[in-house]
Amino acid sequence: MVDYNTVKLSDGPRGIRAAVSLLKSGDPVAFPTETVYGLGADACNDRAVAGIFEAKNRPSFNPLIAHVANLEIAETIASFSDSARDLAQAFWPGPLTLVLPRKPDTGLSDLVTAGLDTVAVRIPAHPLAQELLNAFGGPLAAPSANPSGRVSATSADHVLDGLRHRIAAVVDGGQCEVGLESTIVGFDGDISVLLRPGGLPVEAIAACLGQEMQRFKGGDITAPGQMTSHYSPDAGMRINASAPQDDEIWLGFGPDQTGYRGLNLSVSGDMVEAAANLFSHLRELDALAKTEGGKSIAVASIPKTGLGLAINDRLQRAAAPKD
Ligand code: TXA
Ligand code: MG
Repeated sequence: MVDYNTVKLSDGPRGIRAAVSLLKSGDPVAFPTETVYGLGADACNDRAVAGIFEAKNRPSFNPLIAHVANLEIAETIASFSDSARDLAQAFWPGPLTLVLPRKPDTGLSDLVTAGLDTVAVRIPAHPLAQELLNAFGGPLAAPSANPSGRVSATSADHVLDGLRHRIAAVVDGGQCEVGLESTIVGFDGDISVLLRPGGLPVEAIAACLGQEMQRFKGGDITAPGQMTSHYSPDAGMRINASAPQDDEIWLGFGPDQTGYRGLNLSVSGDMVEAAANLFSHLRELDALAKTEGGKSIAVASIPKTGLGLAINDRLQRAAAPKD
């Protein structure tokens, strides 16, 4: 394990140049995307990709998303069906990942696809991610920039909290706008399959394709990082609560839930605001739970439509027993 003196890089051209040079030499560098911070490495360099697994302490059977600057590069590594191209044109750059048949001889490290014959591809919308990908030139493998199983990072300081000394650098792009990982879509023939709810509502995808999405039910496609316990704070969690008990602090949602000790995802009940606040509020409440002598976190119930589907998915995993 390399012991890095992790640096925070500024968002200007110098920061980007420094990040590219570290990435070219095979070092892991975290960078902002509109969803969450990614921990990037040269997707064509086995040693660099292995470094990501090491830094995150991640079970190595989990494949990674290849982030690319544009559709032309995406088409060099994956085969797009008509439906896949429709989604790419409608939602890229943005919080959508497509799992597609991998092309032969792409130069991608087998560690990125974990030996599967599909590859997950995404074009992120964050201007710094775009700059970095354009300057780097090739695909960057990038899982979320947090230790495996922990809450994803939505600011450069969150990245440092979890990965200081384990990665070479983090490019500081402030807070992530979306705050939830990308929605992952695969295909079963021409039928779109939801592999992970995320920052792009499934309703938008279904409307674009004129077709309801199938829910992932296991089978051929590898379950995408869907370990039951994931995104976990140390504190215990109880979801779909109507009010906190004595030994609980509160994660509320909506206007009538502001009187309790804790935080509120969105007082106005806005899903976009709630998604953007989710991981940072969980972090803050986890710290508060510790200072208050080991309290648990009770979470208000959140509607299960639009971004609420992904928010509920993350909350369920965060609340699941840790083994
Ligand atoms: O928003 C995001 O998607 C963030 C930012 C950094 O882009 N990235 C992210 O990566 O969430 P990660 O590694 O934490 O989650 C990627 C998921 C994993 O659960 C993995 O199993 C799944 O994508 N995945 C990758 N390749 C796959 C494939 N070929 N088939 C099925 N699932 C795949
Ligand atoms: Mg993750």
